Amino acid sequence: MTPINKKHSAFTRAERVKIRQDLMHWYHTHHRSLPWRENSDPYRIWVSEVMLQQTRVKTAVPYFLAFVDAFPTFEDLAKADLEQVLKLWEGLGYYARARNLHKAACRVVSDLDGRIPAGFADFKALPGVGEYIASAVLSMAFGQAHAVVDANVKRVLARLLCLDVPVNLSSAHKQFQTIADSLLDRNDPGGFNQAVMELGALVCTPTVPTCSICPLADHCCALSVGQVHTFPLRLKAKKIPCHRISTGIVIKNGKLLVTRRKLSGLLGGLWEFPGGKRLKGETARTACIREIKEETGLDVSISSFLTRVKHAYTHFKIEMDVFYCDYVSGEVILNGPIDYQWITPMEISRLAFPKANLKFIPLIYQELVSGKVP
Ligand code: ADE
Repeated sequence: MTPINKKHSAFTRAERVKIRQDLMHWYHTHHRSLPWRENSDPYRIWVSEVMLQQTRVKTAVPYFLAFVDAFPTFEDLAKADLEQVLKLWEGLGYYARARNLHKAACRVVSDLDGRIPAGFADFKALPGVGEYIASAVLSMAFGQAHAVVDANVKRVLARLLCLDVPVNLSSAHKQFQTIADSLLDRNDPGGFNQAVMELGALVCTPTVPTCSICPLADHCCALSVGQVHTFPLRLKAKKIPCHRISTGIVIKNGKLLVTRRKLSGLLGGLWEFPGGKRLKGETARTACIREIKEETGLDVSISSFLTRVKHAYTHFKIEMDVFYCDYVSGEVILNGPIDYQWITPMEISRLAFPKANLKFIPLIYQELVSGKVP
């Protein structure tokens, strides 16, 4: 099928005005009441947009509420230590977001008198602030005319215009940005940005869009040619690899060994039970003993198998075999992790762990109750 490419210039000025009117009218009557929409506090908007960049609204709401309750202002966030921040982010994933938000809050407080820079370029110079965050925060908090482009916006635009560029082609981003800029309602850029995202989240959804109630149905190219499901076009994703991991819960005198990942990189700064990737041909048990020796210098023996956990990250999946291990000998000498602790099972909940660890931690408690764990 050759898609019809209705270029955005195909919208006349009058059509663009009507699109804005129809969309904003719908938004004012149908938007969800969400905690970050209660006021235009730049701090709350920033926190929410950072969370919403990779996380669904429903998942983000309780995290947002707990976060702004613990840290109501930039000053509170800047004063907090990173571990506290990561604990509140635990389970949300993409932890660089939390590390950068914390760093940015420290800069806002120390260098900028507690205020967000009003200039786009100055704001973008802060850690973790890209085009999307800068546009979202400056438009929603200060009414500046910057259009946001996220996955919801791209889907809405691709359908509205029968765009024949794949949404996941990074070089196509500029094209979506130009179109979003041309449609932006300059009288209420923040409202307009939220409205397009809301339409994408509630009506123009990926698999079952409800075109019968869409405020933009009269303007939609994909609907008019009966090809709503053709758009947006998407390049086939590469098959993601699966890594096999072995992890050990090392027990010594009733305490469990946890190590802290280095601050940069995947899951940076989180605590975990030590372990790592299985080598080719290696058994899960051998890998567990070897990884613990390499990372911590300790000799351990495996006492029992706890469980197998599966988890999907963006670019790979893991299948993790988890073992209880007995400490045999050695002093901790770290190679990779930046810190370690021997903790009681009840102390696990004080620390922030990756989701894959959170999947088996409840089993440790169950076994604790049944007397299997000391
Ligand atoms: N997704 C990204 N930003 C959003 C917002 N402010 N409201 C709802 N969904 C969003």
